[in-house]
Amino acid sequence: MSQHTKQSFPLIVGHRGAAGHAPENTLVSLSYAKQLGATWVEFDTMMLKDEEIILMHDVTLTRTTGKKEFVRDCGYEEVELLDAGRWFAKAFKGEKIPTFSQYLKALTHLEMNYIVELKNNGSPGHVFVDRVLSLVTPYWDPKRSHPIFFSEEPSFLKQVRNTLPGAKLGQVMHHWNEGVYSQFLKDDFSIACVNHKEFPRERVKELNELKKEIAVYTVNDPLLFWDWGHEPIHYLITDYPSLQPLLYKERPYDNQ
Ligand code: G3P
Ligand code: CA
Repeated sequence: MSQHTKQSFPLIVGHRGAAGHAPENTLVSLSYAKQLGATWVEFDTMMLKDEEIILMHDVTLTRTTGKKEFVRDCGYEEVELLDAGRWFAKAFKGEKIPTFSQYLKALTHLEMNYIVELKNNGSPGHVFVDRVLSLVTPYWDPKRSHPIFFSEEPSFLKQVRNTLPGAKLGQVMHHWNEGVYSQFLKDDFSIACVNHKEFPRERVKELNELKKEIAVYTVNDPLLFWDWGHEPIHYLITDYPSLQPLLYKERPYDNQ
């Protein structure tokens, strides 16, 4: 993507699919994102004990399935029995945790672009990243936008760069930290992926001058969404991709 201009808005990215509308990191959440007009989604990946890659945000299965186990200690034969939808709403009862392979097939079928976040859940990191890359590569279609890789772990991003030198890489920064920021610049990753609650606004200008892309997450409040949508950033990540049409309207309200 070229440098942001005043005429364009950031790409709107559905967070964990469309996590405000449907259970995160599931196939139904992806299908909601599509129906709500998103062309991009972000989701989280982790490796199981048997080296299967699944979509999962937390290091344990507890919050989204009720099973009190670490993800890294389970095999897919246990995980595929779990209900990852009921916690969100009765209507989603029976929704499964998808494998990354199943999710990639759905993404291709729906012609969606994606950001895959590589989560460190204590599994062997090198094997994990290798497995993710081996699954992505057959779907790497030069006619479509290439997938983007995000991670909080610089070593994971460097491993992606070694295998796929053209891939865009985003350093996730949950807390703004000058040390992590300068390391991000030294590592020369292409995207700063920043928690909107922590992002010092003056860095937006600086990052643009440095020709870095900026991803801001997770912006769900309509007014904040409008404000970030009018900043010179490149990706705006939200649980509610349905907010996108707001950007073309007047600022929703103003308390000042
Ligand atoms: O990738 C951006 C964002 O998803 C990082 O935060 O905790 O939702 O994975 P988290
Ligand atoms: Ca994520």
